[in-house]
Amino acid sequence: MGILVKGGTVVTALDSARADVYCDNGTVTAVGIDLSSMKRKGDREIDASGKLVLPGAIDAHTHMELPFMGEVSKDDFEQGTIAGTAGGTTTIIDFVIPTKGQSLLEGLAKWKEKAQKAVSDYAFHMAVVDWSDKIKAEIPVVAKEHGITSFKMFMAYKGAIGIDDEQLFNIMLSVRDAGGIVTGHCVNGDVLVVLAKKFLAEGKGGPIWHVRAQPPEAEGEACHRAISLATIAGVPLYIVHNSCDSSVEQLKLARAKGLHVYGETCTQYFLLDESLCEPDPAGVNYILSPPLRTKPDQESLWAALRDGYIQTVATDHCPFDTKQKLLGKGNFTKIPNGLGGVEERLALMYSYGVKKGRITAQKWVDCCCTAPARIFGLYPRKGAIAPGGDADLVIFDPSVEWSISAKTHLSRSDHSPFEGWRVQGKVETSIVRGRVLYEKGKFQGSKGDGQFLRRPRFERV
Ligand code: URP
Ligand code: ZN
Ligand code: ZN
Repeated sequence: MGILVKGGTVVTALDSARADVYCDNGTVTAVGIDLSSMKRKGDREIDASGKLVLPGAIDAHTHMELPFMGEVSKDDFEQGTIAGTAGGTTTIIDFVIPTKGQSLLEGLAKWKEKAQKAVSDYAFHMAVVDWSDKIKAEIPVVAKEHGITSFKMFMAYKGAIGIDDEQLFNIMLSVRDAGGIVTGHCVNGDVLVVLAKKFLAEGKGGPIWHVRAQPPEAEGEACHRAISLATIAGVPLYIVHNSCDSSVEQLKLARAKGLHVYGETCTQYFLLDESLCEPDPAGVNYILSPPLRTKPDQESLWAALRDGYIQTVATDHCPFDTKQKLLGKGNFTKIPNGLGGVEERLALMYSYGVKKGRITAQKWVDCCCTAPARIFGLYPRKGAIAPGGDADLVIFDPSVEWSISAKTHLSRSDHSPFEGWRVQGKVETSIVRGRVLYEKGKFQGSKGDGQFLRRPRFERV
């Protein structure tokens, strides 16, 4: 069955135009002014007049069913991708995070098993949390045989999944040889350990001390170090979840030099600030790493997105219930780190980015849909509305006003970091490979329908 999406405004990373989109057999076959003549018997027609038609959004940073800090994040691949489709996210890139000592391929097998439940498409980044001859030998196998060409390293989380500079540099050399890109959680882990110990010894255990233990300069320093090491190794680098001006400064320097360095931030860093972590213990529900920052940091992130120093906006979707968060009551080092948001990104970025005049509609589509596809080798199969590409489409109604609430969201989390936020614009329909998975408030896809996406060698974008 084909689908004709009729009369909408097609918004891409380059332009906006009134056009129809015709999809057949899971792919886009035509984009044009009036495609009514292409419609065949049995095809479905969706009236998109007054609506925006976008490429399916890609969330390049999620953690579904992640075992982390003694807990497991609330959304598994099924519920997390259902929530994603409600928010127009039709592809996620989740992180395989093997345990220390575990082989990358064992970790991958575990993630493949968990991800079988996904309702929409997914790819993986591979985290390297250790270094050994075995891991060195596995990196090219992961890249070439499994199509996973981005490798994550954590400079924080010392004593758990964090690595030191020697390990980091070894990983970079191997990823370069395998034709991959390194993605980095860049925060100085030693600063964090020392400050956390000091604060706890002083009786400062409330959630705000999690924020104080990761000053913005600890992020800027680690970004600078990662960029320098990547430059020496000759490997492209994608810095995940940039939260502050200090890291933006490093992205600017790197990109001004023409280095292969890319920046991601997440919706929460634009909109939520550190004051939310102040109440003790209620602030536990706003704890993630890097932490929420200040309003001037938010302005710096908007400017960096507008000016092209930051290319992608993801979510780092990793929600924990209040009960799980409260395990760190009185000791912030025990709060499972992470927030939800896979469902709200597109609408929040439209409402507080496009509608507030901070970014153009093209930038909105680029940072949420197209740039993640380009950087991670999925373009133009994903991230575009072009003949031959997957029919992953979002029909977005810019006229709907609504409020975010944990009472109505599809994530399993018992709270939302954006509770009560008013939003202008809502996803009406999400289509994945020509199948309507979400329409007018109802999910209508099936568990297991998601496909794993193999990715090629990194190409400079
Ligand atoms: O607090 C966060 N961001 N939790 C998820 C793991 C990570 O560091 O990305
Ligand atoms: Zn991280
Ligand atoms: Zn993350």
